[in-house]
Order: sequence, then C-alpha cells, then structure tokens
Amino acid sequence: MKDIILTGDRPTGKLHLGHYVGSLKSRLELQAKGGYENFYIMLADAQALTDNFGNVQKVKDNVVQVMLDYLAVGLDPNKVTFFIQSEVSELTEFTFYYMNLVTLARLERNPTVKEELKSKEFKNNIPMGFLTYPVSQTADITAFNATIVPVGDDQLPMIEQAREVVRSFNNLYGETLVEPKAVLPKDENCYRLVGIDGKAKMSKSLGNCIYLSDEPEEIKAKVFSMYTDPDHVHVEDPGKIEGNVVFTYLDVFSKPEDFEKYLPEYKNMDELKAHYKRGGLGDMKIKKFLNNIMQDLIKPIRERRKELEKDTDKIFDILRDGTKKAREVAFKNLIKLKTNMGINYFN
Ligand code: TRP
Repeated sequence: MKDIILTGDRPTGKLHLGHYVGSLKSRLELQAKGGYENFYIMLADAQALTDNFGNVQKVKDNVVQVMLDYLAVGLDPNKVTFFIQSEVSELTEFTFYYMNLVTLARLERNPTVKEELKSKEFKNNIPMGFLTYPVSQTADITAFNATIVPVGDDQLPMIEQAREVVRSFNNLYGETLVEPKAVLPKDENCYRLVGIDGKAKMSKSLGNCIYLSDEPEEIKAKVFSMYTDPDHVHVEDPGKIEGNVVFTYLDVFSKPEDFEKYLPEYKNMDELKAHYKRGGLGDMKIKKFLNNIMQDLIKPIRERRKELEKDTDKIFDILRDGTKKAREVAFKNLIKLKTNMGINYFN
C-alpha cells in the first residue's frame, strides 16, 4: 500500500531555520523519493486562530508568507497538494464526532498543550477551541487517511493522541480510520534547533530566529551575535563545545566541502572542535565560517522567494486547486465515516 503523507504549519509567521531542519528538509526528501499516493501540506489557519482569534488578518497574511517559504525551498505543487484548512469545512465535522472519543482530562494531559498553555495568558479562561485543537488535528490527519506525518518532535503527542482516537473509533464503529505514523528528522540536533541565543528552541516569540527570507546583513549580524562559550574570553583559552550554538549549527549545517572552500586549514569538524577545546581558536573565526555556510544555504531560497513574491495570484491559484482536491477527498472520507457510524439517513 502506498503512503499518504500529510503535514502542515500554523501560518503565524515566516518560516525559519528551525522549520527548515525540523520539517521542511524531511518533506523535501519525501517529495524527492516519490512513490507515495498523495502528499498534502496544509496551511493550518483554523488551528492558528485557536490562539490568534483576535488577529485574523495576521493569520491570513501569513498563509501567503508560509506558501512563499514552501515554494522557495523547493516544495513542488506538481508533487504536493497545498490546501487551506478553513476552506475544507468537512474537517470541522470530523472534529465534532471525535470530540466524543476524547476526555477533557486527556486533553489537559497532552504535553504539547500543557507546554503551550504555560506561555499563554489564558489563566482559568482557556478557550475550548484551543484546548481541543489536538482533536481537530486528528481530523486533519484522518480525513485524508494519512499514514505518514512528518513533524518535529514537539508534535509527537499530537500524533499519539490521533492514534488513540483512531483506535477508539475503529473499536466502536469497525475498521474505518488509519493509524498515522510520525516521521522525525534523522539528526537529533534538528528536532528542536536551538535559537541563536542558545536558550531554547528557535521560535518567533523568543526573537532568536534566522529566517529563510533574511537578508545577507541580517544573517551576518545574527551569526556574529550567537551564544558561544562565555568562559572563552581570550583566543588562547580552552573553549566548550557543548551548548555552544556556533558548533551546534556547524554540526547541523556544515558539509565536508565547506571546509575545503572556506576553512582549508582544517579537514573536518573533529579537527575544528579539538582545536577549540584545546585553546587558540577564536570565536570570530568559527563565526565567519558559519556565516559563509548560512549565506550559501539561504541565498537561493531568498532569491527564489523574491521571484515568487512578484506573482501572488499564482500562489492563490495553487491553493485553490489544492483545496478543491483536498475537499473532494475529505468529503468522500466523511461520508464513509458517517456511514460506518450509522448516521446516514437518506441513502
Ligand atoms: N500543529 C501543527 C503546528 O503547530 C500544525 C498542524 C495542524 C499539523 N494540523 C496538522 C501538523 C496535521 C501535522 C498534521 O505547526
């Protein structure tokens, strides 16, 4: 059986390097590998509204921004179906039936929801829409019979909860839904790329991001402001690698040929790290090296993005086509779901 792949993002801002290594890269690999039945990427605007309900325009604007990022990194509308969540109204119907299969206590225990609640100001007034978004995410996945969901590790509790709903549903109403599997990035450093401040994962709200659309000067300034080892004051001091953001990024982004090109006096990361630990290697040098690598990575993305920006009508055409296709599939699967539940009245 061929795989059906589905994933998505909340359109609340432009995409950054954390998105790139945490999910865009594995999407590109899946796209290149091919052989799947269908590959859906959803702009989760309705989910974004669960904590941006007062800011619809921001979400709408970012639907276009995120699409630009998708296309700029090389996701291909001929191989991927892009669609807008709120335009597939069947998804809310799936959600409504699944709500009966999930308890309030289970939602409150969902680690991702718990984590997110900490950073919100909801206090005792948690909106139902926010608390129940894992159920709606289950709908997103199962409405298309997705077998594979490529995500970052922060989304694992969502997939786990979706699998539980699938099992409960199938137990009650007979084999109907498919249990999805999460696909994580290969390299653990990519699960949650640390921010340039070294404090936590790269995130817009923390202001520690390098965006895929950043200009050369912004990239450079960010790389040169990166957290390294605060005890590495003089070049000759021994330096620490652990927690040193420049080395974390070099581990994630550097390729063997980068050494030849930009730092020929070292053969590889091991040599570079050994010198840094021993002392005698300054932060400026490793930052310059990383800056070159970052510039090479982001330049083609930024340039392609600027081209695409000139014709946003085309972006909407892609979304219109994809959404139409997604709706047809979701509708068909909704009829099947309701039929298996026994709530079809007129046929
Ligand atoms: N929760 C995801 C995010 O925070 C977005 C999302 C919504 C999603 N529905 C999905 C991801 C279904 C994978 C599958 O970005």
